[in-house]
Amino acid sequence: MIYNGHPGSHSNLMIVLGIETSCDETGVALYDSDTGLRAHTLFSQVEIHAEFGGVVPEIASRDHVRKLLPLINQCLAEAGLERADIDGVAYTAGPGLIGALLVGTATGRSIALALGCPAIAVNHMEGHLLAPMLEGNPPEYPFVALLVSGGHTMLVEVRSLGTYRILGETLDDAAGEAFDKTAKLLGLGYPGGPALAKLAVKGNADRFRFPRPMTDRPGLDFSFSGLKTHTRNLWLNGDQQNTTRADIAAGFQQAVVDTLAIKCRRAMQQTRANHLIVAGGVGANLALREGLQQSGKKHGWQVSYPRLEFCTDNGAMIAFAGCQRLLAGQSTDTNLQAFARWPIDQLPTLGA
Ligand code: KG4
Ligand code: ZN
Repeated sequence: MIYNGHPGSHSNLMIVLGIETSCDETGVALYDSDTGLRAHTLFSQVEIHAEFGGVVPEIASRDHVRKLLPLINQCLAEAGLERADIDGVAYTAGPGLIGALLVGTATGRSIALALGCPAIAVNHMEGHLLAPMLEGNPPEYPFVALLVSGGHTMLVEVRSLGTYRILGETLDDAAGEAFDKTAKLLGLGYPGGPALAKLAVKGNADRFRFPRPMTDRPGLDFSFSGLKTHTRNLWLNGDQQNTTRADIAAGFQQAVVDTLAIKCRRAMQQTRANHLIVAGGVGANLALREGLQQSGKKHGWQVSYPRLEFCTDNGAMIAFAGCQRLLAGQSTDTNLQAFARWPIDQLPTLGA
């Protein structure tokens, strides 16, 4: 049991410190339930891991240890706040890399203990899912969320804050993972998603025929590992020239975008929702944004995204999600638990 319920034990005005350390980004934010986001800071470890071609968990944990406290001080200074102004602490407790999560968990819980304020473990995917709420004109419930990150790809029906039904998810690679692995194969370095998207702009998406996996049968699950294999065969058996590299990148990206758009359309029909939100790192992909925007226009639903910097990992989404749960009277026991896996449909509702 990770959440305690204390209905009505907190006021409805609070300033929450949010801490995100689930993977390779140290994110810190201060969210004010009255005035909104006060400040947010981020340190990305991307360059540190690049030479290894992927995230090295031990290096990630050690760097979170180095960066977290200075970032918290910086964030407080930017917001013009003192430590004593913090009314609650929200930290990502999963899913993610255990060592990395434990840095945020231990730090967050220690700060809360020292300040005598409540702390709450936040689910990273709930953070992504609620990130659009940080923007003006937030979606109304119920809506459908397409979560596309490096570790997850799923369609979720959001009935209310905390009430989530998974409509479909990937059976193998996540969309971001497929972008990263394909980019690596094409020699584009790490993390490959943004690099592949940049190259795709120069390519001809129609030169090679890519499959649209699992769209020829009903259902909302995804599978992206076949696209990666398809790319490998095209690349290794081809001329390996720059034009070919760009054409493969464009064809691959279009296949991912079309596949995601087809499943989103199905999810919208199935749930009769009229608002789709897209979050997670791949939500920063401009071709995906354009594809879904067009589909929404054609079929009569609205699509919204968090701003680009809140599509990828950040502390603001954790501060926001934690604040909502703290305001509802929930908090987490004094323990140092982190979860490599933590399904989003197993979170307690907020009794809305
Ligand atoms: O949500 P996120 O920052 O971290 C996880 O929770 O995984 O997502 C990172 C993923 C990476 O796989 C990265 O390559 C991908 O998002 N990504 C992109 C783009 N920007 C980030 N993929 C495609 N196009 C982009 N523009
Ligand atoms: Zn993420």
